[in-house]
Amino acid sequence: MKVTVSRKAHFNAAHRLFRKDWGFEKNDEIFGKCNNPNFHGHNYELIVSVTGEIDKETGFVIDMKILKDIIKSEIEDAFDHKNLNLEVPEFKELNPTAENIAVVIYNKIKPKLDDVMELEITLYETPRNFVSYSGA
Ligand code: NI
Repeated sequence: MKVTVSRKAHFNAAHRLFRKDWGFEKNDEIFGKCNNPNFHGHNYELIVSVTGEIDKETGFVIDMKILKDIIKSEIEDAFDHKNLNLEVPEFKELNPTAENIAVVIYNKIKPKLDDVMELEITLYETPRNFVSYSGA
């Protein structure tokens, strides 16, 4: 019997979407306002979902305190109030789209979990735009 438990988290971060190997016009055409050279910010909402068997002794899939601490140390401390392009090494050469941020978050959290647990990351960049990634 597998159950999914989820925890919400939040971080504010700035980014700019562009490719160094494209000129300004092509970047402007593809990324529009998101290519603003002075960056812009988002209030990212994150949902981390862990699926696994219920532990017979504790009744938990994962202790929420442990999940909370993983999200804080791996994601909030690393991303909150940061410029993703300039201050987060994972985005030095990777465009910080919501898609890529979700994959980076997944790759940071997955190794911290028990191998048998499944992980899904849902990342809201705006209240209406969100992406999800589960390692496929
Ligand atoms: Ni943006």
